[in-house]
Amino acid sequence: MKKFFIQTFGCQMNVYDGQRIAAMLESHGWTAAPNVDTADLIILNTCAVREKATNKVYSALGRIRRAKKPDTLFGIVGCVARESGADAFKRIPDLNFVLGPQSYHKLPQLLDNPDAKLLNIDLGGLEKFDALPKMVRSPAVAYIPIQEGCDHCCTYCIVPYTRGREISRPFDDVMADTLHAANTGAVEICFLGQNVNGYKYTDANGKLYRLSDLIRATAAIDAVKRIRFTSSYPTEMTDDLIEQFKTEEKLLPFLNLPIQSGSPDVLTRMNRPYSLDLYIDIVDKLKAARPDIQISSDFIVGFPGETDADFDQTMDIARRVRYINSYSFKYSPRPHTAAALMRDQIPEQIKSVRLARLDGFLNEIQREFNQGCVDRVMECLFEGPDKTGQNLVFRTPYMQQVIVPKTGDDVPTLARIKITAANKASLRGELIND
Ligand code: 5AD
Ligand code: SF4
Repeated sequence: MKKFFIQTFGCQMNVYDGQRIAAMLESHGWTAAPNVDTADLIILNTCAVREKATNKVYSALGRIRRAKKPDTLFGIVGCVARESGADAFKRIPDLNFVLGPQSYHKLPQLLDNPDAKLLNIDLGGLEKFDALPKMVRSPAVAYIPIQEGCDHCCTYCIVPYTRGREISRPFDDVMADTLHAANTGAVEICFLGQNVNGYKYTDANGKLYRLSDLIRATAAIDAVKRIRFTSSYPTEMTDDLIEQFKTEEKLLPFLNLPIQSGSPDVLTRMNRPYSLDLYIDIVDKLKAARPDIQISSDFIVGFPGETDADFDQTMDIARRVRYINSYSFKYSPRPHTAAALMRDQIPEQIKSVRLARLDGFLNEIQREFNQGCVDRVMECLFEGPDKTGQNLVFRTPYMQQVIVPKTGDDVPTLARIKITAANKASLRGELIND
C-alpha cells in the first residue's frame, strides 16, 4: 500500500486542511507513513504569515529532497504555495506539486499522472469543501471552517492574498459538517475563520445567518459539550454574540480577540479602524455577560513607525485587559502587503527588545492566572497520553494544558480534574472520581 507523510505548519485552518488531505488520500487507498523515509508522497502544508515561517518551509524542502527515496513525490500545499507560485519550482526544481490553500483537493490528479508538475494556486472559493470526502471519524475536537479568506486587509497581513476574499460557507453545509463530527466522535466544536465572528450567510429566501445562529444550533446537539471559535475581529463582536456568553453554557469562557497594538496611530496604519475605547467596551460587556471569561490576543511589535510611546500603549492595554494565552510577534514584512512598502521600518534589534518586554509581561500574567487555578476543579477535555505514556494530557476550558498521572485505562473524554500545581506553561492535576 502506498504511504503519505504530511507535515503541517501554522494555524488551525492548516491543521484542518491537513486532516482533510489525509482523509482524501485514505479514500484513494493510501495510508499514513510514520516518517519521511518510508513515504511515497511527502506533503508540506505551509504557512506564510511571517518570513521565518516561509524560510522554514524551504529549509525543510532542502532536507527532504536529500533524504527521500528517488521516486517519492514531494511538494507544498497551503499559503507558501500560493505566495511562491511557479517560483517554487525555480527554487526547488525537482518539486512535484504546488497547490494553494483552496486547491489541494486537486492532489489526486498528480497520483494519476506522477510525471507532470502540478501547479494550482487559484482562489476557487468553496469548491474544495464539496470536493473532499467526509472524515470517517472525527477527533474529540472538531475544527469546522465556516468561512474562507479575509476582507479586512490589515496592511501587514498576507492572508487576504494567500486565502483570498472572505466567503462564508452556507449555514446548512456548516451544520451538516458539525452534525457529522458530533455523530462520529466530536465533543468539542471549534468554528474556524480568519474573521470568524464576521460570518454572514444569506440563504435563497433572504434569511441571514450569523455566528450566533451556528452556536445556538450547535448547542442543541447533545453530543457536543464544548463550543469555541477563532479568530475574532474586534468590531464584529456584536451584542447577539456577546449575549451568548451568558445564555449558552456550552460556549467556553475563553475568547481570542486580537488587538495587535495598543496605539491608535499604529492601529490606523495597520488599517484596523477601531478605537481603544470600543475595544475595552467590548471586553467589559463580555465580562458582564460571563464574569469568568478570559481573553487572549495576538500582538505585533515593531510595526513600521512604531515609537517607544506607541509600544508603551501596547504594554498599557496588556496590563488593562490582563490577557492569558497570548501570542506576540515581531513585525515581518511580507510580499503583496502595503506595510512592507512603508517607510520607517523598525530595526530588528529594537523589535527584539520590545518583544522580550511584552513577552515577559504576558508570561507573568499567564503564570499568575495559572497559579490562581490551583485547588480549583475544572472540567477538562482528554487529548491523549504524554510522550512518556505515564501521564494523560487534558485541556481546561481556558486551553491550558493539564498533566494528570495515569491511574487506569478507562479515561473519560471529559473529566473533572482538581488542579494541584501550576507553572507558566502548564498545570498538574488529578482526576476526581465521583
Ligand atoms: N508580521 C508579524 N506578525 C504577523 N501576523 C500576521 N501578519 C504578520 C506579519 N506580517 C500575526 C498577527 C495575526 C497572527 C496570526 O499573526 O498577530 O493575528
Ligand atoms: Fe490578516 Fe487582519 Fe484578516 Fe486577520 S483580520 S487575517 S490579521 S487581514
